[in-house]
Parts: sequence; structure tokens; C-alpha cells
Amino acid sequence: MSFYRKDQVRDYHRSTVRAALDGLDALSQPAAARVVEAWSVMWSSSEFSTLNDIPVSPSVPYSLIAHTNDVVRIGRSLAAAGAGLVSGTFDPELLIEILLVHDIDKMLLFAPKDRGVFPSDLSGKMAHGVVAGLVLNDLGFRDDVISIVTTHATDAPFHVSSIYGLITYYADMAAIDLVLLRCGGTPFYRR
Ligand SMILES: [Fe+2]
Ligand SMILES: [Fe+2]
Repeated sequence: MSFYRKDQVRDYHRSTVRAALDGLDALSQPAAARVVEAWSVMWSSSEFSTLNDIPVSPSVPYSLIAHTNDVVRIGRSLAAAGAGLVSGTFDPELLIEILLVHDIDKMLLFAPKDRGVFPSDLSGKMAHGVVAGLVLNDLGFRDDVISIVTTHATDAPFHVSSIYGLITYYADMAAIDLVLLRCGGTPFYRR
């Protein structure tokens, strides 16, 4: 059994993803290509025909692409604003890679059905972040990207001790909570 397929990716997937994602221009060409491929593998393996139809959550009317771009923007701002508090070297490209791919397996964990979107069968078999980790490992992403993406979820058994993981977490929470507040949902902040 394979949780995803790489042989269904077409140039159409790559060009659509490339045009939709913000922040790719801040990455080296190989890193940007890896991010585009990871998104394209997930999308082409999913049941969604249109990228913008994939929501950040089945119950939230906000796209995964828009959420990812929010997380990239907020994460980069957070890193810049907190730069004086960071000890040691900081790799801004590593952070952007993580932010860009942190939620890619949502494309497989949700599925369109009866004019709505619902959790897929796979969502009952694999925790959020795990299938993303498989794809990222397959495509040659760095270990730091893989470990943070596989443990970034609010209900993950632990979070990695890493400045990149911490920034990803707070950028993700701020981005999703602002959307939840706007559309009448209960933000994680209040749970
Ligand atoms: Fe997530
Ligand atoms: Fe997220």
C-alpha cells in the first residue's frame, strides 16, 4: 500500500502550485523545486481537482493555500521581529521551507464528498504530519524539516526543541486563530 503516488504529477500541478505559493523566491532553486514537488505529489494524489478548493480544515471556509501563505508571512515576520532573542545561527531558508510544507498532508487527510469536504479514510490511519514526513523524506528534504513537520500539530505527542519549530507553531496558531475568529469558530486560543 502506498499513501501517495509520485507518478501522477504533471507540469500543470507544478505550475499551479508555483503560482499559488508565496515565499518560493526566497529559497534556492533546488529548495523551491522540492517544495513545489512536495505540494504537487500531495495534490495529484488527492481527490481534489482544484487546488484552491482544498480547505485548511473541513469546517473552515478558508483555503489551505491561503493559510500556508499566511503562515509563511507571519512566520517570517516573527523571525525578523524576534531576531535579537535568537541565540546562535539562524537559517531563514530552513524556516521558510518548513512553513511552506507544514500542512501538505491535509490534501490527503480531507476529501470532497457530497458538495462538502470531510476527513478522508486516511485520516483515521495516519496522524496529521506523518504522511507529509514520508513524502518529504522521499523527496530529500533535510531532517529538521521532516522532524518539525511530523510533530507540529497541536495534538502531536511532543514538539521539537527548535527555534524553527517554535516559530512554525506560533505562526500556524496565529494564522488559523485569526481565521477561526473571523468566521465565528472557536480559536485554539480559547480551547
Ligand atoms: Fe497542521
Ligand atoms: Fe497550518
